[in-house]
Amino acid sequence: MTDPSSMARGALLRLAASPEALAAAAASEVMAMLETAIAWRGEAHLALSGGRTPAALHRVLASLPFDGWPHVHVWFGDERTVPPDHADSNYRMARETLLDAVPVVDAHIHRMAGELPPVEAAAAYDGALRALAAQQERAAPAFDVMLLGMGADAHTASLFPQSPLLTDGRLDDAETFAAAIEVPSLQTWRLTVTPATIRAARTVIVLVSGPDKHDALRRVLGGAPSLLDAPVTLLHALPGDVAWFVDRAALFGDR
Ligand code: 6PG
Repeated sequence: MTDPSSMARGALLRLAASPEALAAAAASEVMAMLETAIAWRGEAHLALSGGRTPAALHRVLASLPFDGWPHVHVWFGDERTVPPDHADSNYRMARETLLDAVPVVDAHIHRMAGELPPVEAAAAYDGALRALAAQQERAAPAFDVMLLGMGADAHTASLFPQSPLLTDGRLDDAETFAAAIEVPSLQTWRLTVTPATIRAARTVIVLVSGPDKHDALRRVLGGAPSLLDAPVTLLHALPGDVAWFVDRAALFGDR
């Protein structure tokens, strides 16, 4: 059993028996936070994660009774450098599993333009996040709920091991909120929010499902890998709330 000694004080570890139970538990947490943000601030800012794991959560979210969707702004933590209708597009996945099924206002969907030249797309998204921070009268844009995943290599968003965004100067850059990054391990470019944007999130919910994540989760929660080796450990030092939603297969390696 992994002793989650590396988790930040106040971080939450929620264990689910199955991927379905994980999606249901995380969905009700997200919903509660959206309702609270709308009650307090009249609107909510939700950042979606890419990858496969969020799809089940999205479908549960779309099935829950909620009349607040017109007040929800939807952002993305990262995107692949592909057009929005491409099979690898995180936006397309979100569209098909959530956004097409709920009354979110189109103008409230803040998509990363994966079809544009990466540096141009990142600059545009950085500008949109900067505008959000200004509107919130904050130094950095604050998502009410930020969903993140974790890869088997302990990356999160598109902050991959050895990422230049995690090295000196860029790690502590408090003024850049989105970036284009070359990912040698995938031989491609990605668009991603920066550590500054992740740090500014009011609540981060990390979804980790499946036996292929067990070794990384054990390392990240039980060991003390360096940030460059395990970028998701950035979450251990966040000022806001962090909730790790993990299933048995990820935590115990059950096959
Ligand atoms: C992406 C993601 C990435 C993802 C992890 C886990 O665009 O790929 O944002 O960070 O969350 O790779 O992906 P899975 O859920 O598919 O395992």
